[in-house]
Amino acid sequence: MSERLTDGLERVAAWMRKGRRSSRAHRTGMPASAGGRRGGPLLGLSGVCKRYFVGPVETEVLKDVDLEVHAGDLLSIMGSSGSGKSTLLNIMGLLDRPTEGSVRVAGQDVSAMDDDALSDARNLHIGFVFQAFRLLPRMSAWENVALPLAYRGVGGDDARRRAEEMLEKVAMSDRARYRPDQLSGGQQQRVAIARALVSSPAILLADEPTGALDPDTGHEIVRLFRELNDVDGVAVVIITHDRGVARQCARNARLVDGGVAEHAAGGAPAAVAASR
Ligand SMILES: Nc1ncnc2c1ncn2[C@@H]1O[C@H](COP(=O)(O)OP(=O)(O)OP(=O)(O)O)[C@@H](O)[C@H]1O
Ligand SMILES: [Mg+2]
Repeated sequence: MSERLTDGLERVAAWMRKGRRSSRAHRTGMPASAGGRRGGPLLGLSGVCKRYFVGPVETEVLKDVDLEVHAGDLLSIMGSSGSGKSTLLNIMGLLDRPTEGSVRVAGQDVSAMDDDALSDARNLHIGFVFQAFRLLPRMSAWENVALPLAYRGVGGDDARRRAEEMLEKVAMSDRARYRPDQLSGGQQQRVAIARALVSSPAILLADEPTGALDPDTGHEIVRLFRELNDVDGVAVVIITHDRGVARQCARNARLVDGGVAEHAAGGAPAAVAASR
């Protein structure tokens, strides 16, 4: 790496090269393969509410949401701007906590976990793709992809090999040494998807993954999600404003008035907000 890194990144990068084992890895003790269609949902939200206070004003964004994601699911979630889609996905991705209600991952209620254990559970089970990519600017593509492995205690040649395999999967092998500012938007999103997949999560959550991309590049990204779902069996949840993206998903849901209304793919929303 040619540029000087900030303290934190420098530590992570040095650590990745050394390939030491982390004592934090797998602290939750949850098997990565737990859950799924036979053993219950991979991810389950039950009675989830989220309220924000800004000064004296309270906003209830999510109201009593029940939602399950099973192995093999390809689920789209639509909703108008400000309806709470990112709030919902952040709670599903263990990036935020509900005000009320419970979240189960691989059969385990994560409500009582502290932040470190929550991060470990996320690292073990969930890949998250952000609308704005959120790649670390001073790291190369492969180093960005290898980051989740560092948190799992995998570094050195092993991490590099696995990162490069993931980059190959998203057709980015030839850009492994490029930094994010040397990549196009679609290429950065591919790297972000490789990063989300490198630790073989059972669930991939994507918050408007095509929002910042032109239509053709967006279609390519959706094709990639479908392939991951179809071929690799990853459960995929996509937040989108694009009906074309939603049409390609087997399950469609809409966030309305704080509730999740699910409807048959291509059909009209059911009147009752609920899970399956
Ligand atoms: N940290 C916060 N504090 C207070 N209110 C918040 C906070 N985060 C989100 N909100 C409010 O929650 C509501 C839902 O926001 P959210 O980002 O989930 O919407 P969204 O459906 O993802 O919208 P978009 O399609 O524009 O991305 C908004 O009204 C927003 O103002
Ligand atoms: Mg959003």
